[in-house]
Amino acid sequence: MSRTSFPEGFHWGTATASHQIEGSWDVDGKGESIWDRFSHTPGTIRTGETGDVACDSYRRWREDIALMQALGHTSYRFSIAWPRIQASGRGAPNAKGIEHYSRFVDALLAAGIRPFPTLYHWDLPQALEDEGGWPNRDLAGRFADYAEIMGKALGDRVSHWILLNEPSIFTTIGYLIGYHAPGRKDMEAFLRATHTVNLAQGMSFRALKAVHPKSIVGTAFNMTPCEPEGDSEADAAAAERWHAFLNDWYLSTALRGRYPEAFVNGTPFERMGVRDGDMDLVRADLDFLGINLYSRTLVRALPQDQNLGAMAVGNLGGNEGPRTDFGWEVWPNSLRDMILRVTKDYGRRPIEITENGCSYADGPNEKGVVHDQRRIDFFRGYLGAVAEAIEKGADVRGYHAWTLLDNFEWAEGMAQRFGFVHVDFATQQRTIKDSGRWYAQVAAENGFDR
Ligand code: FCB
Repeated sequence: MSRTSFPEGFHWGTATASHQIEGSWDVDGKGESIWDRFSHTPGTIRTGETGDVACDSYRRWREDIALMQALGHTSYRFSIAWPRIQASGRGAPNAKGIEHYSRFVDALLAAGIRPFPTLYHWDLPQALEDEGGWPNRDLAGRFADYAEIMGKALGDRVSHWILLNEPSIFTTIGYLIGYHAPGRKDMEAFLRATHTVNLAQGMSFRALKAVHPKSIVGTAFNMTPCEPEGDSEADAAAAERWHAFLNDWYLSTALRGRYPEAFVNGTPFERMGVRDGDMDLVRADLDFLGINLYSRTLVRALPQDQNLGAMAVGNLGGNEGPRTDFGWEVWPNSLRDMILRVTKDYGRRPIEITENGCSYADGPNEKGVVHDQRRIDFFRGYLGAVAEAIEKGADVRGYHAWTLLDNFEWAEGMAQRFGFVHVDFATQQRTIKDSGRWYAQVAAENGFDR
């Protein structure tokens, strides 16, 4: 038996997002978010559910922290709901919102858990969407103001920050495909949104640093290794374009000050609303790269497609590995490959695995025990891949499994269960799954036997 072990001081934890767990959507001065509006619109959520209550974590947060502590976690990636801080996305902060996250951070620190907040995990104040949403360039400034507010409120205790969660996903799915809030299907709006978000990333980075220069700031990028489906040069080139579009669109801008080559006909700067001087604004020398990864992507060239000239093949990933209940392929090497690719492209920078996980519906048996062996197998594989990337020279500092609690999985409602802890949504009863105990042991031993 060989041993998989991790560097000393490696952080072990989970990731969550405000809208997916907090509930209490309209209390203590919180404004409406685009996800409140979206899920309250019939036909948007597969199960018809909403995030109005979710895991009730806005009220049960002490219980959540006790769970993490019992499981020996040393880091917690959570998100701050922007509309709790600024109901309309602008103006003076709401004291009750600040107080909530401030107490929360204190309690994490007292429990020996590193607070690792994300400023934007998709719950945009609806008032800002009413002003045009992310396609409106002004939002970059609004976001930087909000970052400054949070830096002033928590920066004395929070050392590590995540600016944005999955910029290429929320712009694509929210503004181009319309499957997520705000539910728009508009290529022009999408193109402009991507540029505003890049401006927002650079400007909020500087806003946080201006308040606390020692803050350690990054973004959680959704990443997926893009592999050519066939052996042709056309497939290989298409895979690179797809990589540029999905993985690099907010990274190359930050670290190199330029957009990567994603489009066959060249980057549509004008349609994106790029102005002189913008490429200085989008730059941000991120202190770490956050990687959210669920699978790989197989890519086939499609000559007639004038936008990208590429087509992703397979159901979120490839077609060879086993599938989770979401239908996503289990392919552990994808995580190793992605870590090594960004390390090769951008040099040996600190990396945090900010999300990685799987949906399986296993619930409590008659004895109240949740045997979710498939989830243990999943994490065993992906953690092995992280260890391999570290052995090959990558600087990975921490791992955050998605997720602590079964929760509101966006357009899927409560139908996809990703948690280490099962939640009975009728009673809010929490039950630690076998996988949660297994992960606790990995954290305690900083490794596991293969
Ligand atoms: C990611 C999201 C996260 C969660 C997982 C399953 O794309 O960042 O909120 O929904 O997928």
